[in-house]
Amino acid sequence: MRIIKRSSVDQGRSKTLPHDEQVPHARSPRVITVTSGKGGVGKTNLTVNLAIALALEGRRVIIFDADLGLANVEVLLGLVPALSLFDHLYKGVPIEDTLCDGPAGIKIIPGGSGFLELANLNSKQRSRLLAGIVTLNRLADFVLIDTGAGISKDVLAFCAAADEVFVVVTPEPTSLTDAYGLIKVLDKFKLHRDVHFAVNQSRGDSETKDTVTRLKALADKYLSIGLNYLGDVQYDPAVVRAVKNQRPFLVSSPDSPAATSLKKITYAILNKDQATENSGEWGLQGFINKLGRLFK
Ligand SMILES: Nc1ncnc2c1ncn2[C@@H]1O[C@H](COP(=O)(O)OP(=O)(O)OP(=O)(O)O)[C@@H](O)[C@H]1O
Ligand SMILES: [Mg+2]
Repeated sequence: MRIIKRSSVDQGRSKTLPHDEQVPHARSPRVITVTSGKGGVGKTNLTVNLAIALALEGRRVIIFDADLGLANVEVLLGLVPALSLFDHLYKGVPIEDTLCDGPAGIKIIPGGSGFLELANLNSKQRSRLLAGIVTLNRLADFVLIDTGAGISKDVLAFCAAADEVFVVVTPEPTSLTDAYGLIKVLDKFKLHRDVHFAVNQSRGDSETKDTVTRLKALADKYLSIGLNYLGDVQYDPAVVRAVKNQRPFLVSSPDSPAATSLKKITYAILNKDQATENSGEWGLQGFINKLGRLFK
């Protein structure tokens, strides 16, 4: 049974929309899907803390919990959302009403539970999802999509639909194999020219280096997709404590090694923003176009 409690950080269901409170950034939101192939590698932890780090850098961030049915984002944040994506899709609740306030001003669209797979939504529900996502356009600089484990059609749809894919890998051979398998599928469909990746839970620099070298060697040898290494977050008890206490490590242990490493990854992503050229279907409109094509 899942135990949910409220933390003391800024939270609660959103009552006012934040878009006119902050200086908007020039580009439409960057939609980044965080995925891994293998489960339990740290996707949700990295997503949540990356969102907070981006918010602390002045960006408006929405986390879209696409781990449909399991919805772990709210648990890591100690939130008890009143509404979720489920209410939007099945009961017609406007998507902005499902936004939940998290730490540092981030917003969350809770995944809810009891879902059908995205691929099995009927056309009315799918149109509702797409229309709802358009509504988010003006509210965010970044939309981070936290996916579930595996290489299901839903996970691939969220990868395909995002501007950028961020693969989390650990030094375990099973994680490397699954991350490679996922990247191989992305390469096959040629929806991205490159993917970001980060190493999580390594035990020291040499283990990180070894993991990076192995994944890059495999991709160089067999794939045409580029790999953009963002950095590592080594194994840190602060992360385990944060999960237990339902307070993200960036908030509960801001000076921990994990928090310091996560900030470096955040800067790598922000720097990439400046270096990236618009190559077509960017932002939420690109997301909508691609999702529409995938499920038509
Ligand atoms: N850098 C780290 N240091 C220590 N422990 C970590 C670290 N990253 C993740 N963990 C541990 O791994 C667990 C799983 O993390 P998380 O829920 O973020 O993985 P996930 O990839 O989202 O899992 P799922 O595939 O089930 O969605 C955490 O509860 C935590 O105990
Ligand atoms: Mg998760």
